[in-house]
Amino acid sequence: MEKCNVAIVGYGGMASCWHVPHLLAMPDRFDLCGIYDIADERRKIARANGIFAYDTFEELLSDKKIELAIIATPNDVHKPIAKALMENGINVICEKPVTLSSSDLEEMIASANANHVLFTVHQNRRWDEDYLIVKKLYDENTLGKIFNIESRVHGSRGIPGDWRNTKAAGGGMVLDWGIHLYDQLLMMTGDDRVVSVYSDLSYVTNEEVDDGFKTILHFESGLTAHIEVGTSNFIELPRWYVMGENGSAVINDWAINGKIVKVTDWEKLEAVPVATAAGLTKTMAPRTDETIAEEPLPRVPSNINEYYINVVNAIRGKEDIIVKHDELRRSMKLMEAVFESAAQNQVVHTSI
Ligand SMILES: NC(=O)c1ccc[n+]([C@@H]2O[C@H](COP(=O)([O-])OP(=O)(O)OC[C@H]3O[C@@H](n4cnc5c(N)ncnc54)[C@H](O)[C@@H]3O)[C@@H](O)[C@H]2O)c1
Repeated sequence: MEKCNVAIVGYGGMASCWHVPHLLAMPDRFDLCGIYDIADERRKIARANGIFAYDTFEELLSDKKIELAIIATPNDVHKPIAKALMENGINVICEKPVTLSSSDLEEMIASANANHVLFTVHQNRRWDEDYLIVKKLYDENTLGKIFNIESRVHGSRGIPGDWRNTKAAGGGMVLDWGIHLYDQLLMMTGDDRVVSVYSDLSYVTNEEVDDGFKTILHFESGLTAHIEVGTSNFIELPRWYVMGENGSAVINDWAINGKIVKVTDWEKLEAVPVATAAGLTKTMAPRTDETIAEEPLPRVPSNINEYYINVVNAIRGKEDIIVKHDELRRSMKLMEAVFESAAQNQVVHTSI
């Protein structure tokens, strides 16, 4: 593959700690030509790290050798930066969330079409192994028909940083983590439509934007999903908890500790009742060992470098782009339904 000349707009955490090292790790495929950051200090740091820094955004825009630019700025400026790049014939990877509303997204897609450039979004968590394992269980019916999926991320440090705390910059956890988790769920369930959305946002550490949320989705097929983000959780709940008609699966943490437990004998229902301090239950008693079997989680190796390589191959007409406009449209619509539901404290009926 002929090398792709890349520039990055916004040299903060995501650019310097993720995109740069990944591009530099593929020297036969990518040339990192330079970065532009609005902050002098960040441009100085880039130069100190041996990376060329454009003095102005206009200088980057007029650099004819740039084939692809990655936007890694706060969320509210993704749209104007993307449009300026595309109007100058530069293909764009935009960080998630692509922007703040569906109408903004439509403007960005229209600009890509008008300027005949590729425009896509860094939905990198489609390559997370925990997600790929649950997708495999779902696709292969390992647990029998899956009827409920719980996807959670829990932290205990509130919202990080400055702009993520402000509404104007597109802060808050729905836009930050929600958009990853909604995208994963929509990719997993494919054509199954989301028919209703209920969401509740939390404001434990922050008044202006949500610092967490719970979302319940109902799908046309009857599947339900519970998606949750918390930033005041000193004990984390499992990353994934999946329920099928013949078994359950849990992925506890980022290190992919977890298990599958499947029923081996549905007929044997007898149980030793559990006596608690104040009562007795047979319904909630653990299953006896001979009626269940534990299995390890399957492993699904993944390589995020494929993301960048796919973008270049798609620009050059050799592959279809993986992260597509219609998929971005769906996750933005879902994000909007989440905010609407939370504002009204009501279920929002959808066809997403
Ligand atoms: N895909 C992921 O896994 C992932 C992870 C973290 C962040 N992100 C996304 O990456 C983006 C950046 O996040 P971050 O954590 O790097 O933020 P950050 O605050 O660390 O960095 C943002 C940088 O953009 C610069 N900037 C602001 N406005 C600019 C402008 N108009 N032109 C040029 N530079 C400008 C800032 O000076 C700063 O250096 C956000 O959209 C965020 O949601 C994605």
